[in-house]
Amino acid sequence: MIIKKLELQNFRNYEKETFVFGDGVNVLVGRNAQGKTNCAEAVFYLCTGASLRIRHDKQLIRKGAECARLSAETECRYGRIVLEADIYENKRELRLNGVKVARAVDFLGNMKSVFFSPGELRIVQDGPDERRRFLNLSISQTSKNYASALLRYNKILDQRNNLLKERDVSLIFETLPVWDEQLARYAAVLIRHRREYLGRLSPFAAEAHAFLTDGAEKLELGFEENYPSEEGEIAEKLQRELKNVYERDVRLGFTTVGPHRDDIRVSIDGNDARGFASQGQTRTAALSMKLAELEIFKQLSGEAPVLILDDVMSELDLPRRKKLLLRTEGVQCILTCTHAERLLYGKECKKIRISGGKIV
Ligand SMILES: Nc1ncnc2c1ncn2[C@@H]1O[C@H](COP(=O)(O)OP(=O)(O)O)[C@@H](O)[C@H]1O
Ligand SMILES: [Mg+2]
Repeated sequence: MIIKKLELQNFRNYEKETFVFGDGVNVLVGRNAQGKTNCAEAVFYLCTGASLRIRHDKQLIRKGAECARLSAETECRYGRIVLEADIYENKRELRLNGVKVARAVDFLGNMKSVFFSPGELRIVQDGPDERRRFLNLSISQTSKNYASALLRYNKILDQRNNLLKERDVSLIFETLPVWDEQLARYAAVLIRHRREYLGRLSPFAAEAHAFLTDGAEKLELGFEENYPSEEGEIAEKLQRELKNVYERDVRLGFTTVGPHRDDIRVSIDGNDARGFASQGQTRTAALSMKLAELEIFKQLSGEAPVLILDDVMSELDLPRRKKLLLRTEGVQCILTCTHAERLLYGKECKKIRISGGKIV
């Protein structure tokens, strides 16, 4: 899967610019705050329909403009796909090959990408939020079922949390079971998919980690959960659990059980990485997880996703950088950095120099 052309209009600091990408490594070079990450973000927006990364589309519209427009010409094994997004302050219009797409979920995943930035390098050492975000973004790109369950789940969760903040106790206790039933149903979909996904991800991540550490360390990933195997049973159990903590939820004013609290267990040589591993080790584990994500996308869609490497090369040491480049053979990369020469060791690439929201 490759992106051939990207047009940005009034997007972030771009007024109007067209990028033409090669099918290997594309390097966006420039000083800080020139628009490199913005370009990478535009690609990612078109992959995910965005709802998942940014809370407010408004920030994406160039200051003073009314609407940001993104358009990408991509090529996948089924042929050419044109993805477009018109982003307004309070709405957006998504189009696939010129035809309006009503639900963001149907837009999502037509072009797949693995996004890797210094933030992702911290997914192992940071709190569970980041790991859940990783799961959500990754699984959503490969399963519309997951993506729509996630949207529904989050909506119902918000409503349930609002209810928990009410003052009217009888209203709260009467209404909670109504939300619980729906919440548990979508939760079960999320849990089942996450379990499946981690089952797939784990061996790939272990393999990538062995490659990155020359076999010195063993990485294991697991899903920290305690649910039955079947979706119906998961929902039932969760509904009971929700009911058991009514008092606590009301006292705290938010929902304390459910997949919005689950986590990925990461262990290196049998020890919990969060407690035991050094910063270098957790970063290597994070890199392994991202490389595993790349492999899963390849496996599931039969072709490589676009790999976006935003500022990560300078954060990795020399051997890891070289290994990362080895692993991306045959994958289209969009890579941002301030000094291309030092990072790529003569690897063939297309350089695009950016300054002040323009290609120069
Ligand atoms: N909505 C917006 N309108 C205008 N400029 C923006 C908008 N959002 C971000 N910017 C500008 O984009 C620049 C940052 O671009 P970025 O792509 O993050 O830089 P870098 O090249 O370092 O990756 C900043 O100067 C910021 O002010
Ligand atoms: Mg940047």
